[in-house]
Amino acid sequence: MCCSNFRESDEHERILGVEANKGAIAVMVVIVCVCVCVCVCVCVCGMTKGSCPERLLGEERKRTCSRPCKADKDCGNKRQCLCDGHCGLSCVAPGRTCPWPLPPSENSAARLLSPKPIFSALLEVRCEPGFTLPSGLDVTIRRCQGDRQWSGDEPICTGGFQLFPASLLVPSCCPLPDEVINTFSIQGDATVGTSIRYSCLADTVGSSENYCQENQTWQYPHPICKKVYCQPPKEVEQGYVVAVQKTEYEVGFEIHYLCKKNFLLDGPQTVTCLSNGSWSAPPPYCRARCLIPAERSRVVIGGVKRWPFDVTDGMVPHGENVMFYCKHPHKQCGFTAAQACFDGKLQPPACYLEPTWFQYKLFPHRLVSEIEACESGDVE
Ligand SMILES: *[C@@H]1O[C@H](CO)[C@@H](O)[C@H](O)[C@H]1NC(C)=O
Ligand SMILES: *[C@@H]1O[C@H](CO)[C@@H](O)[C@H](O)[C@H]1NC(C)=O
Repeated sequence: MCCSNFRESDEHERILGVEANKGAIAVMVVIVCVCVCVCVCVCVCGMTKGSCPERLLGEERKRTCSRPCKADKDCGNKRQCLCDGHCGLSCVAPGRTCPWPLPPSENSAARLLSPKPIFSALLEVRCEPGFTLPSGLDVTIRRCQGDRQWSGDEPICTGGFQLFPASLLVPSCCPLPDEVINTFSIQGDATVGTSIRYSCLADTVGSSENYCQENQTWQYPHPICKKVYCQPPKEVEQGYVVAVQKTEYEVGFEIHYLCKKNFLLDGPQTVTCLSNGSWSAPPPYCRARCLIPAERSRVVIGGVKRWPFDVTDGMVPHGENVMFYCKHPHKQCGFTAAQACFDGKLQPPACYLEPTWFQYKLFPHRLVSEIEACESGDVE
């Protein structure tokens, strides 16, 4: 019946309704029976006080009865004088609980009729369709006694021929408290042996899953919906974070990064606050330009052969490749060797030799960058 929390097809609801009616009738039958028994007892024995039967020695079954009493003052300050079924008026602690949930039983399902399994709470045990109790009924009511046990014998349902096709059986389910139903949108119907998925209704945290176990308990505690924030993003050296300053940022919030003039952004320009409280990416770097470490020799930048003094500020951006001209050790020819600018650092290759001022001024056409290029076979 726990599944009735969900919108099912009308057909299913109708069946549940029929089942509930049957249950109600059965409960009434049991209550009438109990009443008759109590009445008979009252009449026959004639020794009752109020509506609580006198303690019947030998009727305790396998249970222990607490100290008998007539009024609360007969009991300690933690206990009260309450009617405890066959035990009659006894000193009991009203907050005592009986075992709940009960271990799964093969041919029956137990349902708590009271909000909590405490003293005097009622429990309905109903046999699966086609099974009956020794009494011949298919349902019984048990009461939570002062000795923390459910009244009566352990109900055993026997039988086993099926009255209904399996598709009409009401499946056992795991309980879903109202606060869980009101907090999440839940996929799945909480039937034993299946999983459900939670998604938060309010803002926030992703979804998670739970499994309804054979004993009608959940494998995990229900999750919690709470608002998630991202911490303020890290500062970036030589850059700016473009966002309103806050102590925390909501999911979906975007921040932008910019670099100071002449610095190149290396990494994401925009990061977003994710639903798990992390930013979508680590912050970027702002990388510095490099001074070209050559003056009196041409270099190749971006496929163009140029004099360094013709390049703006004599610098290349981070990541740029610069080809330097080196002289062949034995032949009168030049070849290129590349070096990359990384965050302000650009070393000339080991083979590069900066021409002297005299070489540059007097024999400019003999500079290594100006002589003929070596054959590809000349350079290893
Ligand atoms: C239900 O079953 C699970 C796994 O079989 C077990 O860990 C858990 O203790 C059981 N709970 C109860 C109340 O019996
Ligand atoms: C948050 O989610 C992203 C993407 O789903 C993942 O890469 C990251 O590791 C997660 N962070 C944490 C702290 O779980």
